[in-house]
Amino acid sequence: MSVTRILDLIGVSRIVGGQSILSDINLSLIPGEKLGLIGPNGSGKSTLLGIMAGLIKPQSGEVYLGGKPIRDIRRRQIAQQIACVAQHADTSDRLTVREAVELGRTPWLSALRPWGDEDEEAVTCALDVVGMGNFSSRDWSTLSGGERQRVQVARAYAQSTPVLLLDEPTNHLDIHHQISILDLVERLSSTIVIALHDMHHALRCDRVMVMEQGRCVALGSPLDVLTPKLISEIFRVNAQLVPNPAGGRPVFSFQSLT
Ligand SMILES: Nc1ncnc2c1ncn2[C@@H]1O[C@H](COP(=O)(O)OP(=O)(O)OP(=O)(O)O)[C@@H](O)[C@H]1O
Ligand SMILES: [Mg+2]
Repeated sequence: MSVTRILDLIGVSRIVGGQSILSDINLSLIPGEKLGLIGPNGSGKSTLLGIMAGLIKPQSGEVYLGGKPIRDIRRRQIAQQIACVAQHADTSDRLTVREAVELGRTPWLSALRPWGDEDEEAVTCALDVVGMGNFSSRDWSTLSGGERQRVQVARAYAQSTPVLLLDEPTNHLDIHHQISILDLVERLSSTIVIALHDMHHALRCDRVMVMEQGRCVALGSPLDVLTPKLISEIFRVNAQLVPNPAGGRPVFSFQSLT
């Protein structure tokens, strides 16, 4: 059986100022899977996403993109494979919303491949997908936090990559837009890694990786991993899974530890 390798991490560690912020992370993404990254503040989720994207270099270990060490792959080629939405994504330039999304097409453009209809369509479609089609000509700097976040998701979507890395892409969004971004994530055929704090959102992933102090403490299907025992150990809260009155996945009930 042939194995399609997308993104593999082997023994990845990072130390900053003598402090270990990631240690010995081993992970192979399954093509098309949605992997949720869960963990307390400072547990290493954003650092791990940065390493997966080739933006942060690990001190030891290796990241492989399509079976090749990512450090040997040019930035443009990486950007044709991996799109990212950073936790505090922003732009300092004075751009319109449409121009901000057009940036997502950069890795596909060259002297021999100038901007064309395909790019125009990708941008229009991306803006529509996040419900920002009517904001095209608005100045980016005038957008609300949630609107900016949706434009960043549109920029990554327009990049048309097989891998998407999303760092808390719903943290500024109202509930309608949270659900619509998660529905989009579920619909896409891309391989997606998404850092999350909401356990209910994590339940929608194919697999969940739980991090604590830079280590992977659990990796597997959400209901196998997000047990009340693990949640109380890692997040210091009591958790119960209760049946959802509306049907479908169970829901969490949280209380402080007594
Ligand atoms: N460049 C750096 N210099 C010093 N410490 C750093 C650096 N980058 C990250 N850290 C530390 O590493 C730890 C992991 O940070 P990271 O941003 O990956 O956590 P996180 O899990 O994404 O947290 P959050 O849920 O708050 O977003 C934190 O304690 C952070 O302060
Ligand atoms: Mg983070």
